[in-house]
Amino acid sequence: MSQPTNTRASVEKRYANAAKQPEAALCCPVDYDPKYLEKIPQEVIDKDYGCGDPSKWLQPGETVLDLGSGTGKICFIASQVVGAQGRVIGIDMTDDMLEVAKRNAPLVADKIGYANVEFRKGRIQDLALDLNLLGVALEQHPIADANDFLKLDEIAEDLRLKQPLVESDSIDVVVSNCVLNLVEPEQKPKLFQEIFRVLKRGGRAVISDIVSDEAVSAAMRDDAHLWSGCISGALTEEDFLKAFEDAGFYGVELVKFETQPWQTVEGIEFRSVTVQAYKGKQGPCLERNQAVVYQGPFKSVLDDDGHRYDRGVRAAVCDKTFNLLQSGPYAGSFAAVEPLEAVAPEAAQAFNCAKGARRHPKETKGQDYDATTQAANCLESGECC
Ligand SMILES: C[S@@+](CC[C@H](N)C(=O)[O-])C[C@H]1O[C@@H](n2cnc3c(N)ncnc32)[C@H](O)[C@@H]1O
Repeated sequence: MSQPTNTRASVEKRYANAAKQPEAALCCPVDYDPKYLEKIPQEVIDKDYGCGDPSKWLQPGETVLDLGSGTGKICFIASQVVGAQGRVIGIDMTDDMLEVAKRNAPLVADKIGYANVEFRKGRIQDLALDLNLLGVALEQHPIADANDFLKLDEIAEDLRLKQPLVESDSIDVVVSNCVLNLVEPEQKPKLFQEIFRVLKRGGRAVISDIVSDEAVSAAMRDDAHLWSGCISGALTEEDFLKAFEDAGFYGVELVKFETQPWQTVEGIEFRSVTVQAYKGKQGPCLERNQAVVYQGPFKSVLDDDGHRYDRGVRAAVCDKTFNLLQSGPYAGSFAAVEPLEAVAPEAAQAFNCAKGARRHPKETKGQDYDATTQAANCLESGECC
């Protein structure tokens, strides 16, 4: 895939300038909650280069990682949403952006009454490598020849392992606002893998970004200005969602889709979307005789492992899927049917995916079940006859 040879440099240069002087062309109208903006210095608000507001999907107490945090606006909003019990880490590669964000962090902390935001220098496609630590190593081991370069490469690998910028399985929610498109195409799979790596099991990504309705032409990809302007690096709507699937996420959902394009270039529409995607479908599948009933309204649906659920049909599921389907993106869509006699997890066998999708009620109740019972007495609650 072709692209400007100086993608990173052109992105860094453009955002270094935009950290000093607001650039209107990089801004997309977003309806941030004014009650959070009140606590954020005007300089940060003026240097806003976002296209959505992933902070709307955060909860109190969560640990949040913001990719490409810029001057820090989403971090400062997130800081107020997650509260004093939560934590926010912003990552950016551009020193001038980090300077503005770090300088304003104590001002926000004074206004809200607690300090729970920090900013770190790194590239979002390599969240293990702390670029400040690498800078220190480079001072101690300057590069004069190829051997020095290889030595520094080894040091970088060591830093990734022993002092990672962001540890694996440490984050509740990864957010980002208008940044993923700026990463080089060949590094995009690694970027999504990194988001997956740093999330805890059960964590989620909430990403606002620019996507295109058609594939971007080679000529547009070669245009460094269009690239750094969040245009040429945009994935198509379909490829954006597929990138989450390919990295192992489930429950991938377009929680926001702007029907109006932000910009149209050579007939291709570029618009803002926000995607939420969950980590946690990996792991052993145990047979505990559980079933779920998809409640509709669609006639049938497929999950991210290709399981099909027909409306109103008792589907046999493993323990892991049983739990997933009652939470997160699926909450409220499935009725959970537990067996009459619970199978203890330590006694459970491997789930047989080949057995077929239906769970006969006799499997749930037991083959010898022949009880006849009285109607359940619900008169006391007054809710039924
Ligand atoms: C369009 S601005 C968005 C800034 C911020 N999220 C906001 O809402 O205002 C893109 C930011 O991502 C940073 N950036 C771009 N590519 C990056 C990468 N590969 N790694 C880390 N930061 C990156 C830039 O320095 C810039 O601050």
